[in-house]
Amino acid sequence: MESADRPAEDLEEPWATLAGSFIRPQDDTGRPLAYLAGHSLGLLHRGVGACVGRELDAWGRLGILGYQESTPSWLRYAHDLRPLLAPLLGVRPDEVAILNSLTANLHFLLARFYHPVGARRKILIDRPVFPSDRHALVSQIRWHGGDPASDLIEIGPEPGRHRLDPEALTQAIAAAGECLALVWVGGVNYLTGQNLPLAPLARAAHAVGAPFGVDLAHAIGNVPLALDRDGVDFAVWCSYKYLNGGPGAVGGLHVRAATPDGAPEPMLTGWWGHEETTRFLMGPDFRREAGALGFAVSNVPVLATAPLWATLPLFSEYPMQRLAARREAVITFLEGRLAARPVAGLSCITPEAAAERGAQLSFRVGPPLPEGADLIRALGAFGIVGDWREPNIHRIAFAPLYNGFEDAVRWHTAMIRLSGGSGR
Ligand SMILES: Cc1ncc(COP(=O)(O)O)c(C=O)c1O
Repeated sequence: MESADRPAEDLEEPWATLAGSFIRPQDDTGRPLAYLAGHSLGLLHRGVGACVGRELDAWGRLGILGYQESTPSWLRYAHDLRPLLAPLLGVRPDEVAILNSLTANLHFLLARFYHPVGARRKILIDRPVFPSDRHALVSQIRWHGGDPASDLIEIGPEPGRHRLDPEALTQAIAAAGECLALVWVGGVNYLTGQNLPLAPLARAAHAVGAPFGVDLAHAIGNVPLALDRDGVDFAVWCSYKYLNGGPGAVGGLHVRAATPDGAPEPMLTGWWGHEETTRFLMGPDFRREAGALGFAVSNVPVLATAPLWATLPLFSEYPMQRLAARREAVITFLEGRLAARPVAGLSCITPEAAAERGAQLSFRVGPPLPEGADLIRALGAFGIVGDWREPNIHRIAFAPLYNGFEDAVRWHTAMIRLSGGSGR
């Protein structure tokens, strides 16, 4: 297929219908934008309004009786989504819970998994880790009376490089050895888009007796995951990126059932983690619900969860492997265009190997291209939505549920023009 023909494939099924089931922001003339910011906030699916509306309607009609009479049940509103979510993670439904937000869930899981004792008190992380994760980890070290200057080990790419060698991470884990109380990484890196291999990292962590946890904010709904096979002990994510749950949508956590329960269990608890069958007896003692649901503390935010009833079923209809193949076709096509027609001032920092990346491509930007807010504004004038991360990184994503070849052409064409070139 000639490169120029590929945008026509966006009109083929199932991709045309799938993309059309999302609402794209438009420019002043009504032309849909090339929305390349799904790594930040996924688009609104047309089914979401009905799901939220159903709960508003039930609330209006039933008030508190909605807890008994609404369908799906408000009492199990998030629980019943777990069979749809678990395949995206490669885990059993009882190993996931849909609740809270990512950083809050990280704190709850650190209360379970981070037990600094004696010389075993350090946390090893990849760099750059998302700032909120770092804040949470540093605060937990301090909370336990430790000193982040010595108890936080950060392993980044070699100087002048953006790709983090997974081998360097496993070697650092082995070198730190029994000083490690925890290993924590971002599954797909928020800045570079690098997709880390989880199995060797889990093996390395377990070899030194440390639990292994992962931030999946940029991985879930983006790359195929097999957390149980890979031996990941715990993970957290948000739902507003590739799961298209909407701004501030409810997050989630995973706790591996097979992880030995050797550590004490100073979990932070609340009534929604209490055994479901006796929760409403309202007794004073806490009896933990089995599995990941035992980590719930509060009742389900029904309105913030409702969009997932529209968007998670999409992943049953279009399994991750199929979506990954579609996204890879678009990215390979764009890479071909960039090779044939490079953009002055632009260099890709996301690893080239398909297994080491997902939907996101990150670029280092310099002259003659505009930088920072100027670049984002200039792209906006071409009808393109991407983003910027300081000091010099431009991020775009090709979310396979709604992005296609035409988006790649529009972005590439705009970048050529912004660098002083012409043509499409
Ligand atoms: C990789 C990563 N981790 C953590 C967070 C923080 O998420 P939340 O605000 O839901 O706690 C984000 C938010 O974008 C993120 O991208």
